[in-house]
Amino acid sequence: MRIGILTAGGDCPGINAAIRGVGKTAILQYGMEVIGISSGFLGLINEEYTRLDENVLSGILTLGGTILGTSRENPFKKGNPFNAIDKPKLIRKHYAELGLDALVCIGGNGTQRTAAQLSEIGLNIVGIPKTIDNDVWGTDITFGFDSAVTIATEAIDRLHSTANSHKRIMVIEVMGHHTGWLALYSGVAGGGDIILIPEIDFDIQAVARCLKKRVQDKKPYSIVVVAEGIPVPKGVSPGYYISSQIKELTDLETRDTILGYIQRGGTPSPMDRVLATRYGAHAAELIAGKQFGRMVSLKGNDITSVPLEEVGGKLKPVPLDHPLVEKARWMGVSFG
Ligand code: F6P
Repeated sequence: MRIGILTAGGDCPGINAAIRGVGKTAILQYGMEVIGISSGFLGLINEEYTRLDENVLSGILTLGGTILGTSRENPFKKGNPFNAIDKPKLIRKHYAELGLDALVCIGGNGTQRTAAQLSEIGLNIVGIPKTIDNDVWGTDITFGFDSAVTIATEAIDRLHSTANSHKRIMVIEVMGHHTGWLALYSGVAGGGDIILIPEIDFDIQAVARCLKKRVQDKKPYSIVVVAEGIPVPKGVSPGYYISSQIKELTDLETRDTILGYIQRGGTPSPMDRVLATRYGAHAAELIAGKQFGRMVSLKGNDITSVPLEEVGGKLKPVPLDHPLVEKARWMGVSFG
């Protein structure tokens, strides 16, 4: 068989481990030929490919980013009607010309939706979920998440010591798109005092009261972890907005940090390397068994797969009754 691999959407640590997992299993276990497609779905439109042999796949396990490059190209998005190219049709044509038997799409929510649509128009697709946001429906965990939690936690740890020295309120904004997984996990791991996530409505007055009470209780510094997706006035960064509101309402000395793309860069954590490797190997196994139109997924400790049509277009928010939210509340963490 001849298979293609592409990586689309925002990058994250572990993508190369997944490419290697698919590629090495496909070549060594199943005798397949593997083609890398550049820059996500754009590579299939512009016919930019490279052969992924064993040599190319060696030494990439620990590398951050993606050796194939990525883009947020969505071929199904309606373009200018006057010079619109039928991109899905073009992709189907190039897929056939390349002689592909299957295409592996490594990406987050948007990518899995496109993957499901390509599957509907007749391509043999297997999806692999990746993102630091952990918001892909149909899997317990996406790779990239553990690395990002580690990076954000280290940042919060570092803010603790400087917050303590100056007796300040430190607000840190972490990524997560529309969900609060990254803020919740790094907030708990870093001992955040207040964690604000999009899934839980917050009241800024309650945040201010909590911070003032901590000062009265002889806790003169606090860490506030803010998910980038919380609702704030348009055009303002959530971290900056929350810190300016805190200053106004409490008169406590407050500083803000926006962690940004550091959370997405660099080498994957060991857990992400393992998860991406398991996902990659299982994707090749699905292709060998001609089980297409599926996304590999983690359920508990087991790697399995779910139909792509069930995944496409859905989001996995933090459930309001998530045990970590409950336990954090028991220990005095405020969610605003
Ligand atoms: O989905 C990953 C992510 O890093 C989100 O956390 C963030 O909102 C978004 O991508 C940033 O996107 P871009 O790379 O397009 O700036």
